[in-house]
Amino acid sequence: MAGKHFKYVIVGGGVAAGYAAREFAKQGVKPGELAIISKEAVAPYERPALSKAYLFPEAPARLPGFHVCVGSGGERLLPEWYSEKGIELILGTEVVKADLASKTLTSAAGAAFNYDTLLIATGSSVIRLTDFGVQGADAKNIFYLRDIDDANKLVEAIKTKKDGKVVIVGGGYIGLELGAVMKINNLDVSMVYPEPWCMPRLFTAGIAAFYEGYYANKGIQIIKGTVAVGFESNAEGEVKAVKLKDGRVLDADIVVVGVGGRPLTTLFKGQVEEEKGGIKTDGFFRTSVPDVYALGDVATFPLKLFNEIRRVEHVDHARKSAEQAVKAIKASEEGKAIDEYDYLPYFYSRSFNLSWQFYGDNVGDTVLFGDNDPASPKPKFGTYWIKDGKVVGVFLEGGTPDENQAIAKVAKLQPSVENVDELSKEGLTFALKI
Ligand code: FDA
Ligand code: NAD
Repeated sequence: MAGKHFKYVIVGGGVAAGYAAREFAKQGVKPGELAIISKEAVAPYERPALSKAYLFPEAPARLPGFHVCVGSGGERLLPEWYSEKGIELILGTEVVKADLASKTLTSAAGAAFNYDTLLIATGSSVIRLTDFGVQGADAKNIFYLRDIDDANKLVEAIKTKKDGKVVIVGGGYIGLELGAVMKINNLDVSMVYPEPWCMPRLFTAGIAAFYEGYYANKGIQIIKGTVAVGFESNAEGEVKAVKLKDGRVLDADIVVVGVGGRPLTTLFKGQVEEEKGGIKTDGFFRTSVPDVYALGDVATFPLKLFNEIRRVEHVDHARKSAEQAVKAIKASEEGKAIDEYDYLPYFYSRSFNLSWQFYGDNVGDTVLFGDNDPASPKPKFGTYWIKDGKVVGVFLEGGTPDENQAIAKVAKLQPSVENVDELSKEGLTFALKI
């Protein structure tokens, strides 16, 4: 189908799309060459704000304050920036069909778009309890959080259910960040998750014990080792209680569910090679289809440092993969070569007055160090992961910028460790010496 033609089309208008647009502008894109097609009604923004400052009771973050690229200390790209550069922002437009053979995308309204080069940046969608048939999971006031519309619904619910009871389902990133922000809004918070401790994808039992203790001291009730199996609602269809597998029933005016994400690859199924749930790419984010790139959450890429292919659902990689892909596109047009992506995984989170960073890989034996007493006025502690005699990952709560830089360096350089007891005694000093 003949449609509007662009040299480059980015499908998806999130973090990766915004950083890709900035890189295109840096590399010298001509007016009319680039379009971003996004389901969302607003220009790309820093998604992490949605589970943090966007939900604060005082001075909440609002657009246009957190458009990309302020999250990494860069220029804030307002909608005007795109028009000045001649980059077309096609907002409120969902692509429902992608035909990679004819290089055509079709929107829900039936509009067609053609491209020479496609950048897939569709990110993830949330896993819903209705997906696995949890009874009553379609009741009102059961919320998920992925985009700004979801965040606005939560803001409204926080206002209408003042002093109400919130049940958070899930003990991952969303669970921990939302549990905190709901408490800051003075709501009565309970958290439920199936595992023996929170954030099991990353945290050790020792790390988790600190956060669980800290949350408990803030008055958050934590219920572990069970799941929500059903919801009761009132005559208006609003959720009123959460039924747990262990038989307990929790009163609830608001439920927030964070049970994981799923990369949005459906549009491209059967047309492009996939691996580990994402679209397989090389170190330049080229997919198996010529002229098609995949960035951010959807890309399964070679992680050179660990000699493995991985998918990463975090903002730092969304930004850096976008920049790498655009550099690779421009270099190939000019017959030049660039280095392969050499990524050091970096994850972080903030809640209450806490702030942690993690670099590297969380495999092997662990060494916990520092003051991890949840009642401590200024807790500062961390963990080293050691594999084959080398430090491969480091976690630090409460670090200063210099200390965080030091742990990043350790994860990148992977120094050898001869004596684990010594490392545990040295703690952060070990990283500061590297
Ligand atoms: P992203 O999800 O940002 O963008 C995808 C875009 O594509 C969206 O605009 C979507 O609407 C659009 N889209 C999808 N399908 C489409 C279609 N068919 N047609 C048109 N448009 C389509 N990470 C971190 O390191 N630290 C943090 O603190 C946080 N905090 C955080 C909070 C919350 C609430 C969420 C949901 C996520 C985080 N993350 C995070 C994760 C981080 O935000 C995430 O990894 C990046 O946003 C991924 O960037 P992408 O551009 O790949 O997807
Ligand atoms: P997650 O994978 O971090 O956590 C999912 C959690 O769901 C698991 O830890 C488990 O406790 C729980 N769970 C699974 N099944 C359950 C069930 N039936 N009942 C109750 N709990 C159950 O996913 P998330 O927290 O939903 O986050 C979604 C996405 O957003 C991820 O890509 C994440 O990386 C991203 N995110 C990142 C940050 C950050 O990096 N700071 C912050 C928010 C969101």
